[in-house]
Amino acid sequence: MKRHGQGTDLSSGQRFVDTDDFFVGTKLDWWDRNGPMKKLHALNEIRLPYIEVETSRWMGTSSENSLKSLTVLDVGCGGGLLSDRLGEAGAIVTGIDASPDNIRAAKLRDDQRGFGINYLLQGVDQMENGAFDVVVCMEVVEHVDNLDQFLASCVSKVSQNGLVFLATINRTFWSLLAHKFAAEYILRWLPRGTHSWKKFVTPSELKNILRRNGFETCGVQGVSANPLSGSLFLSNQLSGNYMMVARKVRDRFEFEAQQPSDVERLK
Ligand SMILES: C[S@@+](CC[C@H](N)C(=O)[O-])C[C@H]1O[C@@H](n2cnc3c(N)ncnc32)[C@H](O)[C@@H]1O
Repeated sequence: MKRHGQGTDLSSGQRFVDTDDFFVGTKLDWWDRNGPMKKLHALNEIRLPYIEVETSRWMGTSSENSLKSLTVLDVGCGGGLLSDRLGEAGAIVTGIDASPDNIRAAKLRDDQRGFGINYLLQGVDQMENGAFDVVVCMEVVEHVDNLDQFLASCVSKVSQNGLVFLATINRTFWSLLAHKFAAEYILRWLPRGTHSWKKFVTPSELKNILRRNGFETCGVQGVSANPLSGSLFLSNQLSGNYMMVARKVRDRFEFEAQQPSDVERLK
């Protein structure tokens, strides 16, 4: 069911993404650290160091400045919370999103910050294949309608030996209680209907899609919260929020070519 609207192309009025994302259809104050985006601000404190460390590890870039001069595509960049930090870390960032309001908020922020981030109101299909060293897509995949197709498109933008970073919420009993009922109905951290639990994604589902598209998963890391301070930290607990990094090892068509054909399977 589409509750909140879909991304539309400003010039043509055409729908270009399949999503029921609350964040697409709602005007939000992205940069108020204590506002509705509080959780994403908290996540920012751990996801940027995670991306920096893993990029240095898997791409062999300097450990101090691992993102410097790398081209990074932030898919579903929202108001630019992560893009802004990636730009600050020296990356050449393109941020795309399905919502005109979000892109507007991101551009406004960058006018003040001056990192020269290229924010575009576009679907990922419209980006050039193989054009980015790193693609990040954080807190987005749990909203899209056709996950296989969406992820295949995201990872096709990564150059050979490049990386993709994903972050989402696992589909577990714990996430149903904590991320759906408690967050939306009891604690009211998120507006009701922000998430559909059925669309939460398990790490194995993501790994399988990545593998089919020529990517090898290098690491999966849980994100846990300190119940007293509310601060977030990396953990081995994968039942709620988690992040993943995967490396492009071959082209999708090479993977398909390696699979036994139906005829061979029947032999
Ligand atoms: C929860 S917000 C996350 C924003 C940002 N990635 C972050 O973590 O700070 C989800 C964002 O994904 C965007 N979005 C959802 N589906 C999308 C799609 N198919 N293509 C592009 N953007 C999409 C929404 O407009 C929204 O800005």
